[in-house]
Amino acid sequence: MKPTLLFLIAVHICFSMLSCRQKDTKNELDVESYAKLLKTGNDISAQAQASLLAHVSGAMKQGGSLYAVEFCNLKASSITDSLSNHFNCTISRVSEKNRNPENKLKTEADKQLWAWAKRLDDPMKDTLVIVESQAVYYKPIRTGLMACLQCHGPVETIQVDTYEKLQTLYPDDLATGYQLNELRGLWKIEFAQEF
Ligand code: HEC
Repeated sequence: MKPTLLFLIAVHICFSMLSCRQKDTKNELDVESYAKLLKTGNDISAQAQASLLAHVSGAMKQGGSLYAVEFCNLKASSITDSLSNHFNCTISRVSEKNRNPENKLKTEADKQLWAWAKRLDDPMKDTLVIVESQAVYYKPIRTGLMACLQCHGPVETIQVDTYEKLQTLYPDDLATGYQLNELRGLWKIEFAQEF
């Protein structure tokens, strides 16, 4: 089954109920605001993704994967700050197999959305949920380019010096062993505005 609007609304209601139990707030989002925030989330993630890609691929051209290791980091891209300020939101990436320990799945919503993103029969596109009166946008990130595999592919295919540097910077790295087009993570955009 395709993720229909009804399903998204059901997910939304589930999360509203979850957070209602914790906190007695309105947690209501009308269809129009939902569509608007979904579009904003999509625009923000697309811009952040494009900027990251430009940084990583530019660095790869300049000095190969070893040099580029520090460029697949949201903080390396100035656009993240300007998007966060402009839209009053926090932009991050989370993953079950994370490289940076800061990027692990943290909240119950992260885990539920991850479980959905992993499903092959009902592929997740992007969605918005309300968690404790706040809207959170999620979108799957895939290893869409061969270049991703230079740092996230099977260990034996990663250049030795690059792998050593990754191990030094991220001793608990879980983000290797990927094939092309696998689910690598989720964009997570938390809007500050309360509902
Ligand atoms: C040159 C090496 C390199 C390349 C190429 C690369 N990455 Fe990364 N990736 C990293 C590093 C290093 C981190 C940890 C960044 C941090 O500290 O936040 C990371 C983190 C991530 C994360 C955040 C979750 C986590 O594991 O911490 C995602 C998602 C991700 N990469 C996706 C991709 C995708 C998709 C591509 C291809 C378009 C790609 N990466 C290409 C090195 C790379």
